Amino acid sequence: MRICAENIHFTYPGNVKVLDNISVTLNPGEKVALIGANGSGKTTFARHLNGLLRPQSGTVWVGDWKTSEHSPAQLAQRVAYVFQNPDEQLFRQRVWDEVAFGPQNLGYSASQVENMVEQALSLMGLTNEANFNPRDLNYSGRKRVSLASALAMQTPVLIFDEPTASLDMKEKKQFSKVLKTLNLENKTTLIISHDMDFVVENVDRIILMYEGKMIHDTSTKHFFKDKELIENSGLVIPQLIRLSQELNHLDLALNVEQFIKERERIITTIKTE
Ligand SMILES: Nc1ncnc2c1ncn2[C@@H]1O[C@H](COP(=O)(O)OP(=O)(O)OP(=O)(O)O)[C@@H](O)[C@H]1O
Ligand SMILES: [Mg+2]
Repeated sequence: MRICAENIHFTYPGNVKVLDNISVTLNPGEKVALIGANGSGKTTFARHLNGLLRPQSGTVWVGDWKTSEHSPAQLAQRVAYVFQNPDEQLFRQRVWDEVAFGPQNLGYSASQVENMVEQALSLMGLTNEANFNPRDLNYSGRKRVSLASALAMQTPVLIFDEPTASLDMKEKKQFSKVLKTLNLENKTTLIISHDMDFVVENVDRIILMYEGKMIHDTSTKHFFKDKELIENSGLVIPQLIRLSQELNHLDLALNVEQFIKERERIITTIKTE
């Protein structure tokens, strides 16, 4: 499903402008990262996509719906949003009930809900914690419950606000696999993240926000070629990119496999010269 923001503006009461004339389209099957310094407006933008916030001017389309004409409950049929802070999202006493809340509200039958919950718990490695109280899990556990809650809804659009914060390597790999599957299912995914190592390997397109504006919107490869832009934006250059740059590779590697291939190509070139 396509998401389209047209010239949106938003200011919190008593604040400076937080979203300043944003226009952007996210297409079905795209994996997009929204990045930028603290306070640049990423979360505020994300909250416009599921109707938690409404633009003060401009329009946000979710498929053929304007968010201004639909309630957050209706928009939940189309957009699942994972909060930056899981403690703002979780409210039930049992992991299973928490993950079931979305599908139940969307009107699925008891057996469908059961399937959706089991599947989402398994994807996030939470099957054995189904009966736990989310409050008894550590931060990463609570984060994974919030991710599972969104996945369980099986919506065409998913927004993840800082999904990898606190996840360990194994959990990040698991989440990366989930993103690939969503991509194959033609879902639209927006990942808000400060985790550049994760971003470089997991998205195709990067949008950079700066003081309420989207100042760059380009392919991942193109974005990471611009060393100065990354440093000036206060972002950490991913390890893989630093390595590619240091070794003067002709082509930038976005994942370990590409890096190894590129390195072998360079060695072969040197040998034959
Ligand atoms: N509920 C609110 N009321 C007033 N101002 C707010 C509110 N939420 C955010 N802001 C302000 O709006 C600006 C943008 O905040 P936002 O949370 O969208 O940024 P962000 O890019 O998600 O930052 P971070 O990377 O820290 O999560 C900041 O100046 C912030 O202080
Ligand atoms: Mg934020």
